[in-house]
Amino acid sequence: MSRHDVIFRAVTLIDGTGAPGRDGDLAVDGDRIVALGDLAGASGTMEIDGSGLALAPGFIDAHCHDDLPLLRNPLLEAKVSQGVTTVVNGNCGFSLAPMSAGRGRPPAPLDALTGNGRYVFESFADYFAALDAAPAAVNSVCLVGHSALRHQTMDSFDRPATDAEIAAMAALLRQAMQDGAIGLSTGLFYPPAHAAPTTEVIELSRVLTPFGGVYVTHMRDETDGVADSLAETFAIGRGAGVAVIVSHHKCAGRANHGRSTETLALIDDARRDQTVWLDAYPYTAGSTFLQPGRVDNSARVIVTRSEPMPEAAGRDLDDLAREFGCTRQEAAERLAPGGAVYFDMDEADVRRILAYEHTMIGSDGIVGEPHPHPRAWGTFPRVLGHYSRDVGLFPLEEAVRRMTSLTAGRFGLTDRGVLRPGAWADLVLFDPAAIADVGDYARPAQPAAGIDQVWTNGRCVWRGGRSTGERPGRALRRGQA
Ligand code: CU
Ligand code: ZN
Repeated sequence: MSRHDVIFRAVTLIDGTGAPGRDGDLAVDGDRIVALGDLAGASGTMEIDGSGLALAPGFIDAHCHDDLPLLRNPLLEAKVSQGVTTVVNGNCGFSLAPMSAGRGRPPAPLDALTGNGRYVFESFADYFAALDAAPAAVNSVCLVGHSALRHQTMDSFDRPATDAEIAAMAALLRQAMQDGAIGLSTGLFYPPAHAAPTTEVIELSRVLTPFGGVYVTHMRDETDGVADSLAETFAIGRGAGVAVIVSHHKCAGRANHGRSTETLALIDDARRDQTVWLDAYPYTAGSTFLQPGRVDNSARVIVTRSEPMPEAAGRDLDDLAREFGCTRQEAAERLAPGGAVYFDMDEADVRRILAYEHTMIGSDGIVGEPHPHPRAWGTFPRVLGHYSRDVGLFPLEEAVRRMTSLTAGRFGLTDRGVLRPGAWADLVLFDPAAIADVGDYARPAQPAAGIDQVWTNGRCVWRGGRSTGERPGRALRRGQA
């Protein structure tokens, strides 16, 4: 009789590929899955009865800003409680490296993500070494932020980079890729990068080609100019010969509701001659920094963070404006710098984008905010419970594929996102009938229902509704399993 470290018994195995779930057992030795199927002839040092539960590969969050939370809050309860075992960091142009402390406080909103400039690293090698020295509960990979490169290289951001600055940024990017970063991200929407022309981004993206790195973008415009921004994204991918990923795809602002029919058709067209993927989160509200010019385009705005008025976090902007006796926009000006949730999407668009076959699930959650968007705690359970089970947008197996093997393939995560012998033992044991997001806009920071256990690299990180305190996560370098 063969003996294993751990056997999960009588589970429904959902292997991450989209194949139908099947009943069976799964065995783990050390940090790897070693067998699955009927393991009646084997025994485990630890046996876990999973009757009535599903066992899936640990979820991979395709779009994260957990660069700093991994260091400051390595148990990362917000993500682990959802079943997430790997996070993709460095999105929207923002990474903690390569930046020198001597360059001063990074421009907003990069400053907030670096702990007001206190957590910056000269190189990706330094950042990865910090994660190796103080591991988190989850694995991570990281993109190089274009705005971080700009901060490191340029003294003003309201203009295109010069040829010399582009060369300097390219050298930093090349070094970061050699150190193990997986690609480049931009936040062309944000002030530190908004003046960067398409050509600047193409030049930088060329650095990625020999590494097989991806170009990931928070596009210049997700509102009225969303089609132009897609065209720009495709041009960057073609110009540099790289795969592109459109971050948190949406059609924001009332005037653009319904336009996902058009944008997904544009993506289908582009996909005939280049590689394009996207990620999305399952909510009709977005969240980003508090931007007075944006507040009137949203049905409702909730403040998530305010530097001048910390007590405003969690409150409705309309209520604050009434108390101040001013307009929404003036209230936002008083509360900035800060963050906000904007109700500016259409439910039909959200569903259409989630259901698109090339869409990965990414939370875009800001887990360190005092009153975050509920996506920080609820994205994955909401897709599995609300959108798959209750709304019937796609079968459970397809929902799991969009958060496991699809994402692993796009970001080059070898032997993850799938249940098979030899793969890493990143696992989620959950109840498909009970899984649900619990947090809402009023009380966002709440663990999901229906998540029984979560394992990273063969060690249990979440059980009985709480963190186990284990931190087996790895800072994965490009190409490394
Ligand atoms: Cu983002
Ligand atoms: Zn973004």
